[in-house]
Amino acid sequence: MRIGVIGTGHVGLITCVSLAAIGHEVVGGDNDPEKIALLERGVAPFYEPELQPMLEQQLKEGRLTFTASPAEAVKDAPVVFICVGTPPRVTGDANLVAVEQAARSVASHIADRAVVVEKSTVPSGTAQRLKRTLQRGRPQPEEHLQVVSNPEFLREGKAVHDSMHPERILVGGEAEWAFEAMREVYKPLTDQGYPLIETSIPTAELSKHASNAFLAMKISFANALARVCEKAGADVVEVADAIGADARIGRAFLNAGMGYGGSCFPKDVQAFEHLSRRLGYDFRLLQEVARINAEAIDSTLEKVRDALWNLEGKTVALLGLAFKPGTDDVREAPALTLGAKLLAEGATVTGYDPLAAANAKDVLPELHIAPDPLSAAAGADCVVICTEWPEIRDLDAGELKEVMAYPVVVDGRNAFDSGTMADHGFLYYPTGRPPLL
Ligand code: UDX
Repeated sequence: MRIGVIGTGHVGLITCVSLAAIGHEVVGGDNDPEKIALLERGVAPFYEPELQPMLEQQLKEGRLTFTASPAEAVKDAPVVFICVGTPPRVTGDANLVAVEQAARSVASHIADRAVVVEKSTVPSGTAQRLKRTLQRGRPQPEEHLQVVSNPEFLREGKAVHDSMHPERILVGGEAEWAFEAMREVYKPLTDQGYPLIETSIPTAELSKHASNAFLAMKISFANALARVCEKAGADVVEVADAIGADARIGRAFLNAGMGYGGSCFPKDVQAFEHLSRRLGYDFRLLQEVARINAEAIDSTLEKVRDALWNLEGKTVALLGLAFKPGTDDVREAPALTLGAKLLAEGATVTGYDPLAAANAKDVLPELHIAPDPLSAAAGADCVVICTEWPEIRDLDAGELKEVMAYPVVVDGRNAFDSGTMADHGFLYYPTGRPPLL
């Protein structure tokens, strides 16, 4: 099937590559000519496991091409995916300017009979507006133009895997012929047994926000639990294991730590709360989810203060700067929020990350960057574990102690074993577990 994809960011490029990999003829469009030039040369503009070789292969096999012209991207395509960004406004609402611009730029070039797929995470009601914008550009009857909602559920660092092995494919639509077109798009995946769920458009749009908000709520529940465990002398990891053994609760996403970051959870929790309020429901639970998430960073900072007293003139090493392991993304990364607070209190801050160091330095220029975890820890008064990369988890406690000025570790991700830290005589502050003081 010929498919046009508008937007070649995280979601758009993964969509391009995976749709090509399942046999479609895909043209990816983006209004950034530099990005297109890079993609045409087979270079992925961001890191995502499996992406680079898949991009090269699909280009080589000729199923994937790129263009800076929106008209070219949608020409003769019976299905067009809109995958542009929806960043938060200062108010917390999703900014949908790029979605509207994408619709306007393709409206008059769209094929005679086409399904436009809303893939970006958007508030409920956006599909209706999208349809109106497309109709203004080129009035078409319902049998010729349909909008469907097909939200993505991709995790960064596993995006290609999630796209090729989806737990569910969700399509919200109105007309049967549009559902039929979407069934054809995903047939190579549904033939392998991956389920496709069909719903109305508002249900699909809302499900995406509900999914991310629920997962964020689980993390915040674990973080609130960590605060109580710290006061009660309980162990939050063991509590999570105990409650997570109940299939109704589930163990996933109950890891207490420095909280969630990234391009989705912080933005989507806020956008969903705003959307609910606009619709007339005060979803205060979501405000609490965000508040507890911010508190998780403050609690980590409090441990650093407790260990070091005054921060002026002290050196703190942050191990892990990305918002989670497996990515170079530092958007809303708890490590950087903590880093900014430490700097504001007069500390010298050194950071290490296997992939995200350069991005972190762009956001926080005062940050010193070290090439490996031990160099970052060398001479430090305190090490904070911010992202549980394997190379950080596997650090040798003896070597770590050797290079530090004082053996103080604040473990914001419960990456280390208390017994080992005790054996080496560390002052050790885990999260929601008894400290070694
Ligand atoms: C998320 C959703 O998982 C995905 O379905 C959606 O499409 C986009 O948003 P992503 O942002 O890539 O994906 O990251 P995810 O792996 O979900 O982790 C989000 C954040 O939560 C990270 O900062 C991670 O460190 C944190 N987290 C996760 C915890 O603090 N505790 C946990 O138990 C799990």
